[in-house]
Amino acid sequence: MTDNDHSGRLAGDALVERVKSDLADWEGKELAAFLKRAPESKDEYRSGSGLPVERVYTPADLPGDWAEIGLPGRFPYTRGPYPTMYRGRNWTMRQIAGFGQAEETNQRFRYLIAQGQTGLSVDFDMPTLMGLDSDDAMSLGEVGREGVAIDTLPDMEALFDGIDLEEISVSMTINPSAWILLAMYVAVAEKRGMDLNKLSGTIQNDILKEYVAQKEWVFPVRPSMRIVRDTIVYCSEHMARYNPVNISGYHISEAGANAQQEIAFTMAITKAYIEDVVATGVDVDQFAARLSFFFVSQADLFEEVAKFRAVRRFYAKLVKGYGAKNPNSMRLRFHAQTAAATLTKPQPLNNIVRTALQALSAVLGGAQSLHTNGLDEAYTIPSEMAMKVALRTQQILADETGVTSVIDPLGGSYYVENLTDRLERGIEEYFTKIEELGGVIPAIEQGFFQREISDTAYEFAQRKGTGERPVVGVNKYVDEAEDQKIEVHKLDPESEARQITRLKQIRADRDPVRAEKAMAELLAVAREDSANLMPATIEAVKAHLSMGEITGALRQVFGSYTETPVF
Ligand code: 3HC
Ligand code: 5AD
Repeated sequence: MTDNDHSGRLAGDALVERVKSDLADWEGKELAAFLKRAPESKDEYRSGSGLPVERVYTPADLPGDWAEIGLPGRFPYTRGPYPTMYRGRNWTMRQIAGFGQAEETNQRFRYLIAQGQTGLSVDFDMPTLMGLDSDDAMSLGEVGREGVAIDTLPDMEALFDGIDLEEISVSMTINPSAWILLAMYVAVAEKRGMDLNKLSGTIQNDILKEYVAQKEWVFPVRPSMRIVRDTIVYCSEHMARYNPVNISGYHISEAGANAQQEIAFTMAITKAYIEDVVATGVDVDQFAARLSFFFVSQADLFEEVAKFRAVRRFYAKLVKGYGAKNPNSMRLRFHAQTAAATLTKPQPLNNIVRTALQALSAVLGGAQSLHTNGLDEAYTIPSEMAMKVALRTQQILADETGVTSVIDPLGGSYYVENLTDRLERGIEEYFTKIEELGGVIPAIEQGFFQREISDTAYEFAQRKGTGERPVVGVNKYVDEAEDQKIEVHKLDPESEARQITRLKQIRADRDPVRAEKAMAELLAVAREDSANLMPATIEAVKAHLSMGEITGALRQVFGSYTETPVF
């Protein structure tokens, strides 16, 4: 019956006609009779992002051309970036960790590795994220609270003590100060005599989404973009397996965006980075293969799978448009994290179930790397026990469910293919709007993204408030007598003081001449827009200049940023 002819059409005209006629017949007969007896629960059904969804999908909803679906590891990569996917290598199980001093986080890393985790992910405390030192007045009370405190190179050495960096890939969630931590990472590896080209890892380094969603910045947009460019160029020349940027939709989603906006804004930001680097004369094939991505895995299982497929396809076409010839430049690889905002304080064990289902959609959507949230997400940063259960969730998915055997098993689903198409078209529609505003940076400056996200967030909060959007245990099946106690992570109250003492000692012990020379060189390079900041930063951290000293000095060159408020 299928009319899968040589022109690549999936559902030829004859089949589509037959399906449409069957559908009309069924609607008039079985469906109409049934609805008369038992109406449906709602007048209209929508996906998590608000797209209207039909009762049932058919071959008439498939894309016109089989090439849009295609095969894994081949353009347009709808079905995955690699031809063997999880048959050749499971996704990386990468639980994030970070608290206290480097030694404390190092212990958590070792614990997670012993439990079978296959990648590392570092979360830094607020001062480190903002490029401040632990002894800065603004850091008081925040040192090591929600992530690990890193001030100088010896902290970084302690963080990775006993961990073979050529064996395990390490992701660092860090943005405005990312280039300094990359410099420290390079310095640690060099000291251990490692080959930089063997190091596999990622820095988030996605500064544009900070202005759009997460709001952690140090410098204004343009010098910040220059820093991102410098890291991309440095890695393309010295670190063949390193991902210098992890373009992130996750935070855009957590700020309130829906699935459609998450991928559309992420792709718009991607386009801006590509254009910035290409404008300096670097060929797209020299760096695009190492651009990497990070998306949330939300609650609507099928829409999330479609989202991952749609963004892979869109990206492939986008990069091709810049003249890419290397297939690796066009394949999108992403890390996924289950959706923290869906997890609840009441009935916290329910969070294990939510997380398992969200993890399933990441895997069905072909993720390369995954963090599953802890059941204590709504309380504080995760305990060892919560991370163990979350890791076991991934291991059960990988080893017990059979989902790794067949690549893109939802490929060809009438519904998922149709959603994939619609989400891809949605990115195009947002691209047109952003072009009309003059591009991504003007759109940020005019508050476009911020407004779109807050409108969606407001609408979603309203739906939850009225109960239209059920949240089990919160607005439905509330357990009034609940007394569910969970053990939560406890911070060591002495950690902050210890970190400050160590920082002061390192400053006192360092060679002042080397430090001063390194600082002068760094400032000179910063003033030269076409120069690359990385080598001078590597020398600065080796000279034991601290994070806060480096960002503080560069503020004199780059200035700082204040957002225009959006109402
Ligand atoms: N057969 C053979 N080889 C295969 C294969 C297969 N089937 N599948 C993969 N491989 C190879 C790959 O080619 C690769 O080799 P290479 O390094 O030589 O190219 C290697 O195996 C590793 O595979 P991937 O690159 O696919 O997987 P990684 O896990 O190494 O990388 C990534 C994934 C998405 C590209 C990377 O950028 C990454 O890991 N990112 C993680 C980001 C992260 O953890 N972020 C946390 C953010 S948390 C946050 O922001 C929240 C907050 O704190 C506010
Ligand atoms: N340790 C573990 N997970 C963390 N997250 C943030 N900070 C930490 C940390 N120090 C995770 C949480 C949070 C998301 C943004 O990242 O899941 O919701």
